[in-house]
Amino acid sequence: MAKKTLADLGDLRGKRVLVRVDFNVPLDDAGNITSDRRIRAALPTIQHILNAGGSAIVMSHLGRPKGDPKKDAPFRMNNAAQRLGELLGRPVQKADEVIGPKVETLAKELKPGQVLVLENLRFHPGEQKGDPAFGEQLGRLADVYVNDAFGTCHRSDASMVAVPAAMKGKPRVVGFLVAKELAVLDKLLASPERPFLGILGGAKVSDKIGFIKSLLQRVDKLLIGGAMTYTFMKAQGQGIGSSRCEADKLDVARVLLAEGKGKIVLPADHLIADKPEAGAQTKVVAGVIPDGWFGMDIGPQTIARYREEIQKAKTAVWNGPMGKFEDEPFSKGTRAVAEALASSKGVTIVGGGETAEAVEQFGLDARMTHVSTGGGAFLEYVEGTAFAALAQIDDA
Ligand code: 3PG
Ligand code: MG
Repeated sequence: MAKKTLADLGDLRGKRVLVRVDFNVPLDDAGNITSDRRIRAALPTIQHILNAGGSAIVMSHLGRPKGDPKKDAPFRMNNAAQRLGELLGRPVQKADEVIGPKVETLAKELKPGQVLVLENLRFHPGEQKGDPAFGEQLGRLADVYVNDAFGTCHRSDASMVAVPAAMKGKPRVVGFLVAKELAVLDKLLASPERPFLGILGGAKVSDKIGFIKSLLQRVDKLLIGGAMTYTFMKAQGQGIGSSRCEADKLDVARVLLAEGKGKIVLPADHLIADKPEAGAQTKVVAGVIPDGWFGMDIGPQTIARYREEIQKAKTAVWNGPMGKFEDEPFSKGTRAVAEALASSKGVTIVGGGETAEAVEQFGLDARMTHVSTGGGAFLEYVEGTAFAALAQIDDA
């Protein structure tokens, strides 16, 4: 069912709009933002609210704070609020609490065009419990609810479900980012142009079983890379040396290989190393990986084959790096896939936190049809999970 969007609301003059965004951005140890992609992705929604005469109360979680104020300091929303202000080109107020009398006063005093960012929602125990009383306290702050947190849509946290539930009767819509993500993924699921190619990497099969099953039903071919390769190889009885492998997932891997017969393509050759780190001795092998060696990336023959498949595809969806791309010597496969997708004339969709980061790092994000802001949310949506958060949004 299509959902009401911010565009359906028209004038917002004098309205306070509570916007759930996903500012769960990657941080370095000191709490500095290392990629502001998710903040930039929410700008059209926030800007629209301000231009339409509303004020915006922006709320998000950040990281997985444990409830220890000292250790949780890097997870405060201060840097995200500051970055938002820089990107909007206007001052942004930051509340030091999630909820309570001070927040209520700040919210009441908001004038049209002003922005208030609340403290990290996960500093309050009610958030991840989905607590209705906490949701009601947040919901009281505003006249309109906007969900623009695609990356969090697979969570049933209070800000995603209890808040819109408490705001029943007031407009509850999705923002432009969620609307765009859903439109792109719905089209991908319902009527992809063929040939439809899946490209799947990353370390673990276990994180992605449902995703792989869903892709196998939809794609014409599924190219495999990343460390999950070695679990699949081992499941086939091939030697993988000292490569990463999920020994307890060999049965699952066998089932997937059987289901994907004729569709799944495993790498024909590998870049291997004598240590799983940059600075190691490396070489390329076809087929079996010798004892004592670690598979680190797809090999040149595989890169050439995958490039060809990408060129032929009218639709391609990619999740998961092809190797340990953070280390330059093992980044060739991931970079080659990213470059081939960037040059493709077909529809190219990239999802998953790490994959999106890789594409951004290579400077190729703008050349994809769509780079999802979802990690888990992207995987679960493609899997076919119905999100409780979206059920709370008014139907169009
Ligand atoms: C994400 O990045 O996956 C979302 O922001 C949700 O965060 P979480 O995985 O910690 O619930
Ligand atoms: Mg996650």
